[in-house]
Amino acid sequence: MTTVGHEHLLIRPAHECEATEIARLNNLFAVEHLMLRRTPEQVALAIDDFLVAVDERGRIRACGALKEYSPSVAEVAAIAVAPEAQGNGLGREVVAAVEALAIKRGVMHVFALTLQPAFFEAIGYQRVDRARYPEKIRRDCLSCARRFACNEICFAKVLRVDAALAA
Ligand SMILES: CC(C)(COP(=O)(O)OP(=O)(O)OC[C@H]1O[C@@H](n2cnc3c(N)ncnc32)[C@H](O)[C@@H]1OP(=O)(O)O)[C@@H](O)C(=O)NCCC(=O)NCCS
Repeated sequence: MTTVGHEHLLIRPAHECEATEIARLNNLFAVEHLMLRRTPEQVALAIDDFLVAVDERGRIRACGALKEYSPSVAEVAAIAVAPEAQGNGLGREVVAAVEALAIKRGVMHVFALTLQPAFFEAIGYQRVDRARYPEKIRRDCLSCARRFACNEICFAKVLRVDAALAA
């Protein structure tokens, strides 16, 4: 349980029955091109990779996912905080939970492609060249409608087990 602002929230693995609500939260920001659009079916297929932050009434206030590209590299993806819950440290907590999941799966190197560079800088990520992640480019970027006009910035972090234990 974590306290963010005045709310008590639990960050935990998502359940398949939450796929529609996760997609709805994600797609709030797809309209502004801040996130990739995801259907409930796409979320359901990857549900084991999703985490959610739920309030005491069971409402999803934030989500995030770990998308693995190789045994050692994964993307911190689908990070979204409900508009009314933003600015209270919940985004940071969700990314930390996704990082802890990465460590649990033995992945020590994570990256993110984002239009929110100040957020990732504030939470300890380093700006890097996306060419470091050819798996990502092959799997997602080459088929993306915005591939010739992409302004997403790539960030990366090498995770440390001791930091995760202390969190
Ligand atoms: C980006 C987002 C996840 C941040 O979540 P949040 O809960 O508001 O962020 P936090 O309160 O945890 O902020 C953590 C740090 O990042 C900074 N930060 C967060 N968003 C920021 C922004 N847009 N610009 C500048 N700094 C920002 C905060 O100031 C804070 O820094 P501090 O600890 O030094 O004070 C949230 O705004 C969101 O869901 N946005 C829409 C979807 C999106 O763009 N997702 C990212 C996809 S990769």
